Amino acid sequence: MTKLGVNIDHIATIRQARKAIEPDTVAAAILAELAGADGITVHLRSDRRHIQDADVRRLRETVTTRLNMEMAATSEMVRIALKLRPDQSTLVPERENEITTEGGLNVVANSGPIASAIRDLIMGGVQVSLFIDPDPDQVDASADLGVPMIELNTRAYSEACPKSPDLAGPDLERELTKIVQASERGRQKGMKILAGHGLTYRNVRLVSDIPEIEELNIGHNIIARASLVGMERAVREMLQAMGD
Ligand code: PXP
Repeated sequence: MTKLGVNIDHIATIRQARKAIEPDTVAAAILAELAGADGITVHLRSDRRHIQDADVRRLRETVTTRLNMEMAATSEMVRIALKLRPDQSTLVPERENEITTEGGLNVVANSGPIASAIRDLIMGGVQVSLFIDPDPDQVDASADLGVPMIELNTRAYSEACPKSPDLAGPDLERELTKIVQASERGRQKGMKILAGHGLTYRNVRLVSDIPEIEELNIGHNIIARASLVGMERAVREMLQAMGD
């Protein structure tokens, strides 16, 4: 059964739109967990545009599944993670003014700072995952750093399949094949395989059916539906779409 990590960044986006106290990220996390989420993910961005340090602190006290903090591989963020102690840190690239994370980490070109962040986090008792594109060189470079998990970026796949798969063009097969091959390669190298970015109720099944992928991280599409039908129903429906 593929696990579901629910990314609740956009609950904080709505709150920060008014710099108000609602909606509360802890309430959202509890409802997601009650509906069957296997983990809660938040991205503490350097610009603090949505999730704030206080959200991570309060979630650390309340999340009973698994708290995954996405973050840049900077010394400032490593220091914060070691203080706030999520169960897992997912290292992601961050670009100023990007609307959302645009691509995976370039582990091949930046192995030095990434290796040092991995070492410090693991020594501090925080598990580490690297968010990478489904590219064999990035998979190999991640394995070479001894990281236990990778999260494959499904953005290109999702963009190739914005509606239902039977309406998608030839890019869908190409992008799905990259994810399948990167999953198999990463698994052969002994890493746990996760995936996420841009996944929706309509396109998730082809990815959740890949046997090597143990967990998906999904945010925007669940929160979008939750804003209309409620968090518990939105999470339950995503689990169903994944084949629960
Ligand atoms: N995984 C990573 C590493 C991300 O940065 C994001 C977006 O914050 C997601 C998964 C979830 O993407 P989405 O919100 O498009 O589902």
